[in-house]
Amino acid sequence: MTDIRDITEKLFAAENLTRDEIICLLENQTTELQSYLAEKASATARKYYGNKVFVRGLIEFTNYCRNNCYYCGIRCGNKNASRYRLTKEEIIECASHGYELGFRTIVLQGGEDAYFTDKMMTDIIRSIKKDHPDVAVTLSIGEKSYESYKAFFDAGADRYLLRHETADFGHYAKLHPSNLSAENRQNCLYNLKKIGFQTGAGFMVGSPYQTNENIADDLLFLKKLDPEMIGIGPFIPHKDTVFAEEKAGELDQVLYLLSIIRLMLPTVLLPATTALGTIDPRGRELGILAGANVVMPNLSPVGVRKKYDLYDNKICTGEEAAECMNCLKNRISNIGYGIVTDRGDNIRFINNKNTTKEG
Ligand code: 5AD
Ligand code: FES
Repeated sequence: MTDIRDITEKLFAAENLTRDEIICLLENQTTELQSYLAEKASATARKYYGNKVFVRGLIEFTNYCRNNCYYCGIRCGNKNASRYRLTKEEIIECASHGYELGFRTIVLQGGEDAYFTDKMMTDIIRSIKKDHPDVAVTLSIGEKSYESYKAFFDAGADRYLLRHETADFGHYAKLHPSNLSAENRQNCLYNLKKIGFQTGAGFMVGSPYQTNENIADDLLFLKKLDPEMIGIGPFIPHKDTVFAEEKAGELDQVLYLLSIIRLMLPTVLLPATTALGTIDPRGRELGILAGANVVMPNLSPVGVRKKYDLYDNKICTGEEAAECMNCLKNRISNIGYGIVTDRGDNIRFINNKNTTKEG
């Protein structure tokens, strides 16, 4: 039997863990081990990024989606979803409002909506970059061709978020209809990296049918892909989905995984997600104390917020962007951290690439 202490020592030395060692770590989660890892993980985050939490302003610009992922509230098969799209002008105005509030990263997130052609997206990206050359633009609009990704990058987009959802092909097939594949999703991620995006992958914790073996494979996949950003959060059931009756992912497991990810990939940008804040009122603060270093408040107009309804009871759907910013500033200063107003690039990206495509 491997000793759990040997495994944690390897983890602290950022040495590669084997699949069996990761499974052992997952199977042996205790309150003590969890807080020990959280301490080490948050110290690691502070070593590279200081007592700082980066903010990203999230604009959820369309909830139309051609896909029918079984877990997601905006899947095309959900006839109860009330659909909306922001206009190009609304998106750009939202980004400028975010800029005034201090955001230097704008995330454009949406369902896979063919209405927004590559031409429209590149126009929007160029406008935002022209108005605010010091802003990083992050896209989160799903699976596209290499050529589309390249066009977005050439228009000035800096980063791209595309959770791999689950690395295991069989598990992927239980969460998605058969026209979607883990293989294509992973190829998209490799394309994004190849093009030069700061790339984000990630998965839901506690999704239906997920096993510790699956999570171990997720962590190994992340280690291999070596993304600049990783998004994880609890699965939360949505009433109008196949998984309406499934139970949500657990706070402690998300926190434990945040710490493990921080220790495995020490410089990664790791958000304490809105889903984490949804399953526990102090979820995001606890996430930061477990090693996360990013928060992504919502900049979308309040009128559409409730409609970007991926899961039930999502927080911050009634607050104005300025209110969320203030709320987060308070929450973060209460735990001894401070929000930073800069692009917040991955430290490795700044060192390696020597260019952040500013201007
Ligand atoms: N619970 C938690 N997260 C969800 N997502 C989609 N649906 C849910 C849900 N029911 C996540 C997916 C997606 C991201 C935008 O939101 O991981 O990649
Ligand atoms: Fe939105 Fe607290 S972050 S209300």
